[in-house]
Amino acid sequence: MSPVALSFSTVLALAAAVTISSVSAQQSTFPPTPLADKHFAYPTEVPYKVDTDTNLIRGQQTGYNICNSTTENQASLCQTAFINSIDDFCLWGPKDPGSIVANIEGEMISWCTKPGHGSRLIPNDALKGVQFMRTPDYVQVVGFIDQTKINMASDDWGGEMDPHGADLRGNPMGGLFYSNSFGTDKNKFTQVIEWHNFMGGNAFCLKACDPAGPNAAHFCEHRFDRIGCAYNAPNNAQNGTFEACKGDNQDFPGIYTLPDGTVATYTQPPEDAGSIQTMPYQPKVPASSECETFTSSVLFAALASVTAPGDATSAPASTPTAGGSSNANTSGGSGVSTRGTGTGTGSAQGAQGTSNDAETMVVSGVVTLFGVVFSAMFFA
Ligand SMILES: *[C@@H]1O[C@H](CO)[C@@H](O)[C@H](O)[C@H]1NC(C)=O
Ligand SMILES: *[C@@H]1O[C@H](CO)[C@@H](O)[C@H](O)[C@H]1NC(C)=O
Ligand SMILES: *[C@@H]1O[C@H](CO)[C@@H](O)[C@H](O)[C@H]1NC(C)=O
Repeated sequence: MSPVALSFSTVLALAAAVTISSVSAQQSTFPPTPLADKHFAYPTEVPYKVDTDTNLIRGQQTGYNICNSTTENQASLCQTAFINSIDDFCLWGPKDPGSIVANIEGEMISWCTKPGHGSRLIPNDALKGVQFMRTPDYVQVVGFIDQTKINMASDDWGGEMDPHGADLRGNPMGGLFYSNSFGTDKNKFTQVIEWHNFMGGNAFCLKACDPAGPNAAHFCEHRFDRIGCAYNAPNNAQNGTFEACKGDNQDFPGIYTLPDGTVATYTQPPEDAGSIQTMPYQPKVPASSECETFTSSVLFAALASVTAPGDATSAPASTPTAGGSSNANTSGGSGVSTRGTGTGTGSAQGAQGTSNDAETMVVSGVVTLFGVVFSAMFFA
């Protein structure tokens, strides 16, 4: 959401934040430098914390950006993430079990599929299906996950993370993304300036746009936080399938072509207008090719011994698959999905509920519910 277009709920939330913390009038919302303008060569320039402003409304950065073997454990608060390949990517997830993403978008930490990033590892068997897509302008990973294993509440329809947010500090605040996908040297990690990540409904999508591309900000658009993966990352990922493909670029999120050939732009209604009940278009899933399929136990062999907090001991009281609920194939969550596509994306949708505003926290309960309603409509 752009800083000038603060929604009603955002304003309310900001007011609430100020009241709750009874902060003095000196506290402000915006940092002098937006997160998306902070660029650090990896690893030499990465600071301990990227977000160092101490007088801002959302408080301080939760974790840190220098992550190494010392920080690599299941209590890590690493907020530097990577997206390199189908067997090597990180997602943003909560630090504490049972969390609702919309409440803590600003505090998400990195959960990775491989050791070596100083982050938490995604527990064994959490990933149920993954599609990695490389296109001319971005790399994208979409998948199905038992989200309780990365500390999300089972019925959470989630939220959207990106390096902007209503106050430009990013969600998570200070979060960095790197990739070795945009060059030939696999040991060179380029900072991804524009990216978006929807988590929720037991599915996820993450797109990292090539910073050298002319349209990175468009492909990785961060404004459509209420319409999920299906519209922000149209895909045909399938639950149970692990594959890496090459693909054409998507349309820019929110841009679509009418039957008569006219190109139109979608306007996302504000949250205070209620849940989104209809969409004027179906997103187009781009063509893909050269898909290679994999076995998850081979891809994620390093995760074999990693257990989720609840797994080792007794099962949580509520059953973890609830999220699945929706899942009518399409989506489970993923609701998002373009229906057509089925899946994967879906997640996002669910995710939609959440807004990317920093301050959605106050309304998050409601937002999550909207997410469910919205996805129910798509599943029906
Ligand atoms: C490892 O990371 C921690 C946390 O950011 C940092 O304090 C420490 O200096 C790092 N260690 C090395 C050897 O870089
Ligand atoms: C999921 O959807 C696809 C395509 O719509 C369909 O072919 C498949 O049978 C569905 N799977 C389940 C488990 O419903
Ligand atoms: C994906 O498939 C697994 C079974 O392998 C199922 O438990 C899970 O609910 C499915 N996820 C979604 C989002 O449909």
